[in-house]
Amino acid sequence: MDKPKLLIVEDDEAIRTPMKWVLAEDYEILLAEDRVTAMDLFKRRAPSVVTLDLGLPPYPSEVREGFAALAEMLSHDGFAKIIVITGQGEKDHALKAIGQGAYDFLCKPTQIDELKVVLQRAFYVSQLERENRELQLQSNGEPFAAMLGASPEIQEVFALIRKVATTEVPVLITGESGTGKELVAKAIHQLSTRKMSPFVVINCSAIPEALLESELFGHEKGAFTGAHIQRKGRFETAQGGTLFLDEIGELPLSLQVKLLRFLQEQRIERVGGREEIFVDVRIIAATNRDLMESIRESRFREDLYYRLGVVSIVLPPLREREGDIMLLATSLLPKYSTENKKKIKGFTPEAIQALEAHNWPGNVRELENRIKRAVIMAGGSKITPQDLELVSQYTKHKNDGLKEAREGFEKDFILRVLSRNKGNITKAAEELRIHRSTLYELMEKLGVKRVE
Ligand SMILES: Nc1ncnc2c1ncn2[C@@H]1O[C@H](COP(=O)(O)OP(=O)(O)OP(=O)(O)O)[C@@H](O)[C@H]1O
Ligand SMILES: [Mg+2]
Repeated sequence: MDKPKLLIVEDDEAIRTPMKWVLAEDYEILLAEDRVTAMDLFKRRAPSVVTLDLGLPPYPSEVREGFAALAEMLSHDGFAKIIVITGQGEKDHALKAIGQGAYDFLCKPTQIDELKVVLQRAFYVSQLERENRELQLQSNGEPFAAMLGASPEIQEVFALIRKVATTEVPVLITGESGTGKELVAKAIHQLSTRKMSPFVVINCSAIPEALLESELFGHEKGAFTGAHIQRKGRFETAQGGTLFLDEIGELPLSLQVKLLRFLQEQRIERVGGREEIFVDVRIIAATNRDLMESIRESRFREDLYYRLGVVSIVLPPLREREGDIMLLATSLLPKYSTENKKKIKGFTPEAIQALEAHNWPGNVRELENRIKRAVIMAGGSKITPQDLELVSQYTKHKNDGLKEAREGFEKDFILRVLSRNKGNITKAAEELRIHRSTLYELMEKLGVKRVE
């Protein structure tokens, strides 16, 4: 994966170079010594976080170039997280910069530990904001436009969504991976009276435990190293709307207590805070874990489980939704064909059979991925089982007699083991648990050529 981009704007070589060395492991570093270079890099490379020294040439002992850069950057990308670096005793400048939209400030000489914490937070916030923006963009469609399904199993889910959407109770969504848990959460929000307010998502397993508490509940200034200014958490960002807690099974026990408290009293406390804050947020949680098992293992609080799951929606796996596989497949096909500028008319009968027969461990997400891939791979005007990578042994040999089918299968199997062992007969024979000479004989009989 690409490293996140960090732009360091600093005219002092003695500071710039060591910073680069320390941070290069975690970030892709872009360096600039003055405003013009900084702006050029900022526009071309779009870093999500910038550290900005205020005193830049041609006026290194003043702050005007720094402030000009700050304003230019924010007018170009209002979501950029700019951390201003000021000299000793220049707190006024720092506060002014915050007032003008800087994300945070640090005083020289910057402590590396502190810098790292501040940067880590800035990148998280930036990423979460981006995800939320994307969600907001997607969520303007019709309530169920994004959710397809005609099976009685999914229709029951739709009915439940409609029913709970107009209430305020927490909802717990469970189901295997890729069954559409997030989509259900979005649908509930869109059908609720909260639809004009934010839908905020947080994935409890994606954020390190140390950061999760302040991410959720916010923190007061000085609550911990690097907490320079007060910051609101996801609860407060979701004010008036819905907070979707994904992978709730991963929420650490200490935070489970805080969440329970919120569900009982609708109040939260920021990290390092003394006062309780009232927030009006509806909670929807999801997990693909068996929470009952987590409760037995004392990793999840039973009282929280019952509070969260006042209403519980269980998403059926795709293989149990009669008729939905083809419904989804046929509605996804034109979408991906257009995206890839291909003219694909449909599926061959074998492909339809293979789609119906497959077990779909990855559910709707797997179906999306297979269709996407098939569209790219397809040579003809119809999708084949090969394009979908769903060639079952049965499909392949269904017109053969038993003898031909068995030999065909044996041949495929031997070929696969041979190629995995790069044509090494001894190793392949070992894996097949037969003698080398037997393997040679089989290869001869079945017409398998040695693969190098
Ligand atoms: N009923 C449906 N109709 C159309 N698309 C669907 C449906 N259900 C799920 N999808 C699509 O399948 C993909 C997976 O859905 P989603 O992310 O909601 O699943 P999830 O249960 O949250 O998965 P995970 O457990 O892996 O987080 C998404 O791209 C979503 O748009
Ligand atoms: Mg999900």
